[in-house]
Amino acid sequence: AQDKRESLFIVTNWAGKFFRETLWDTEEGRTIGLNYFKERGYREDIIRKFELGYSPEAWTALYDRSKADGHKDEFLEATGLIIRKEDGSAYDRFRGRVMFPIHNLTGRILGFGGRTLKTDKKVPKYVNSPESEVYHKSDVLYGLYFAKKPILDADNCYLVEGYADVLSMHQAGVENVVASSGTSLTSGQIRLISRYTKNVTILYDGDEAGIKASLRGTDMLLEEGLNVKVLLFPDGNDPDSYVQRYGSAAFKQYIAEHQQDFIFYKTHVLLRDAGNDPIKRAEVIHEVVASIALIPDAIKASVFVRECSSLLEIEERLLIAELNKIRIGQAKKS
Ligand code: CTP
Ligand code: MN
Ligand code: MN
Ligand code: MN
Ligand code: MN
Repeated sequence: AQDKRESLFIVTNWAGKFFRETLWDTEEGRTIGLNYFKERGYREDIIRKFELGYSPEAWTALYDRSKADGHKDEFLEATGLIIRKEDGSAYDRFRGRVMFPIHNLTGRILGFGGRTLKTDKKVPKYVNSPESEVYHKSDVLYGLYFAKKPILDADNCYLVEGYADVLSMHQAGVENVVASSGTSLTSGQIRLISRYTKNVTILYDGDEAGIKASLRGTDMLLEEGLNVKVLLFPDGNDPDSYVQRYGSAAFKQYIAEHQQDFIFYKTHVLLRDAGNDPIKRAEVIHEVVASIALIPDAIKASVFVRECSSLLEIEERLLIAELNKIRIGQAKKS
């Protein structure tokens, strides 16, 4: 099994080199792929650091090269680089896309995300490597290999949605950043972060999906005892578009001024949605207390209770009573 894993690693890292060389050394790669990255504002040093690439339009460019280089079909299929058809023939999964390699903690490539250059809504924006013996999506955070040391140094980890956000933040000099790659956070990913820091700042897209995700994945972070802050970008921006539009200095200033503790953020968002409806406001109070109850540190939790009682316009002793009720329930369960 170890031998097989090693063979898969060899193939994914070979493919990474193929996509890189296509980007830098072919006419198609330079005029289409490299041009795309530059139009988006990425510097060459960032493109090289993250080992970005380009996959040719042709149906079997990578497959043909793999044969010439002596790689076995078996391993290309197992890593999802080629897709086998019913008639026995095969074609490349990634075609005409800019390629983002996904690295493990030692910098080896596990898989890829490939972004289309088309604006056609029918084409999926990203195609990703499937699960394989070397690529377990739920245990990987994009960018962690490059962020490990910066996270330790800053004692904080920024969590973003996408590949582009990680690149633009590095370019802006903010390197303690990883992406969940659009899916909701898993407990494996949270454990990974908590090896390096207990402080997480969520920078999700300022759209409906981003707001939903920021409320969803977060309870798990609290349960792990992490300190969670949140910030959404205005007008549908994401960290990438904000950096590219307004520059590094404005980006850093925006973060510094707008990050909010998760509990307060959640209270604000829910209260805004509840409006003046008393039943809905009561529901909000229950939900906020439920989140506070997840915080393992009782002193920290009591600080939140005090602050939230004024935000929620409800007496502190009622919140404490509700909190104790939930905690007793938790104790019974465990
Ligand atoms: N994603 C995906 N498949 C899709 C759409 C999104 O895997 N069809 C993942 C990608 O990892 C993407 C992340 O979800 O980076 C966030 O999605 P989105 O915000 O839509 O994309 P951006 O990262 O903002 O991409 P871009 O700026 O290139 O449009
Ligand atoms: Mn989005
Ligand atoms: Mn984006
Ligand atoms: Mn986005
Ligand atoms: Mn209740």
